[in-house]
Amino acid sequence: MEPPADAGRERPLLEARNISKFFGAITALDRVNFHLARGEVLGVVGDNGAGKSTLMKILSGLHAPSEGEIVFDGRPVRFTSPRDAREVGIEMVYQDLALAGNLPIYENIYLGREPGPRLLGMTVVDRRKSRTMAKDHLDRLKIHVKSVDQNVEELSGGQQQAVAIARATAFDARIVIMDEPTAALAVKEVGKVLDLIKGLKEHGVSVILISHRMDDIFYVCDRVMALFHGRNFADATLADTTRNEVIGWIMGTRGHTDSLAHDRVH
Ligand SMILES: Nc1ncnc2c1ncn2[C@@H]1O[C@H](COP(=O)(O)OP(=O)(O)OP(=O)(O)O)[C@@H](O)[C@H]1O
Ligand SMILES: [Mg+2]
Repeated sequence: MEPPADAGRERPLLEARNISKFFGAITALDRVNFHLARGEVLGVVGDNGAGKSTLMKILSGLHAPSEGEIVFDGRPVRFTSPRDAREVGIEMVYQDLALAGNLPIYENIYLGREPGPRLLGMTVVDRRKSRTMAKDHLDRLKIHVKSVDQNVEELSGGQQQAVAIARATAFDARIVIMDEPTAALAVKEVGKVLDLIKGLKEHGVSVILISHRMDDIFYVCDRVMALFHGRNFADATLADTTRNEVIGWIMGTRGHTDSLAHDRVH
């Protein structure tokens, strides 16, 4: 589905209001606000420990917020597990990918959600169907692997990242959250992952991309938000900011954009 032309102005697909998260004495998030439109690619930046992963774990149902509310498509929601978030179409690709290395690609894509008839509460896995569906899905995403029977541990870092993204998008995801998907990749593989993100956007899927790499952010994102010490620090469309300004946000400084006007991205 194509994202509507006025994607930025309509009701957000996902919104979080006044989210706080306490881990014992640590305040990981302090009244954070967040919004995401349909088909929008949002970059999330911030220094180590700024709260990026924690916020995304809350939006994907892994952590419950200590305070605040989440609104999905206009309705307040309370996720008690990633399964709840997945049910409304929110999927997260974790920093450590969470793939099963000793299993083939096609099994990783459907892990725990295999196609096939249900019998006595268990799914009778239809391997042939699952293999074909995996192959079709990878083709749609333009992900090339030798065979879906290959074990994931035999793949390069970029291919593993692609399988993790394929897994996240196998069931009509509406929002895919990616936590530093390019951090461990070689340059050539980074481009492929970023192009996958562009492909998802073209299909109307919203993407949240946590990244420390300005090249990634400025290549794929529509907007960027910065957290600093667990708080909202800045938020701007890419057209309204510069790499240097965003780097400043990560360090907790603002301004100086006029002197950097030549660096503006249009
Ligand atoms: N499960 C946890 N238990 C206790 N403290 C935690 C937990 N998860 C995160 N924190 C703390 O919350 C704060 C925010 O961490 P978070 O992982 O969200 O940061 P981040 O922005 O993702 O950093 P990085 O760029 O290093 O991945 C940090 O002080 C971290 O130590
Ligand atoms: Mg993190």
